[in-house]
Amino acid sequence: MAELSIPRAHSSSWYDHLAAVQRGYYYPWESVVGDGDGETAFVNLVNAHLTPETRVLEVGCGHGELALSLAPHCASVTAYDRVASYIDLAIDAQKAQGVSNVTFLHYDMTDPAHDEPKLPVDDNSVDLIIGRRAPIHWIADARRVCASGATLIALSPMEEPIPKWSDKLPHKLHYENSGRHTGTGSIHQSVENRLHQAGLRLHSGWGYDVPEYFSTPRDLFNMLTWGLPADEIPEYEDIESRLTRIFDTNAGPHGIELRHCRFLWKALIED
Ligand SMILES: C[S@@+](CC[C@H](N)C(=O)[O-])C[C@H]1O[C@@H](n2cnc3c(N)ncnc32)[C@H](O)[C@@H]1O
Repeated sequence: MAELSIPRAHSSSWYDHLAAVQRGYYYPWESVVGDGDGETAFVNLVNAHLTPETRVLEVGCGHGELALSLAPHCASVTAYDRVASYIDLAIDAQKAQGVSNVTFLHYDMTDPAHDEPKLPVDDNSVDLIIGRRAPIHWIADARRVCASGATLIALSPMEEPIPKWSDKLPHKLHYENSGRHTGTGSIHQSVENRLHQAGLRLHSGWGYDVPEYFSTPRDLFNMLTWGLPADEIPEYEDIESRLTRIFDTNAGPHGIELRHCRFLWKALIED
């Protein structure tokens, strides 16, 4: 079970802490993800739905990298995130790139001050809602903001299996203890339930489960300790020998293999 002092990964307090210790949302490690991964499939699927007339809403946009990359291929992008420093970075990048058809908003969709979750855009004003690794709370208000015939496309991490060497890590870094495993069940089922509650249904869903290789103990350490409170992170030098033993015993020719697991889905707004 997760220890109480460690926020669950991807909870609001976890994001607040992450934003305080690194500039922007990115993975602070190097790894190699196998071919056919869900992140690439998501970007390809989104691009296949863009036309010069498409009005896009991006939920949980982080520091705005995806919104800015899509902007040349659509009419407009509105993108929001609850972390103010991510939106500041996004606006800086927008100015630097001279992009005029993107609006970045600092907005918390699940702010308890709202009576109910509400997207920060007008009724019938969106043709495509996208979310990359973002929460799925926004589904509740999707029908209101979408024009008829709109599409929803999102990519969610699926929990990866616990590696067999997890118990060779210090106790606090075991997968079961470090907030990485929520035990909340299948993301596929959660998406279907949310869509059903919103009067929508899944059009297509695809699971992606490909290898992800870490070639050095330091990269593995950076991944295992990502977003943890500083007082929960051991000094690298103190656990280097354990990590090296894990490599010596478990690494293949490309390093330690973990699984890179994503659920990609699509729904349609029909009359
Ligand atoms: C896993 S990150 C992904 C960021 C970005 N989509 C990307 O792919 O790099 C999820 C993002 O959702 C944002 N988020 C989480 N809950 C939110 C909420 N209630 N309202 C707005 N943004 C939220 C987080 O701040 C974070 O930037």
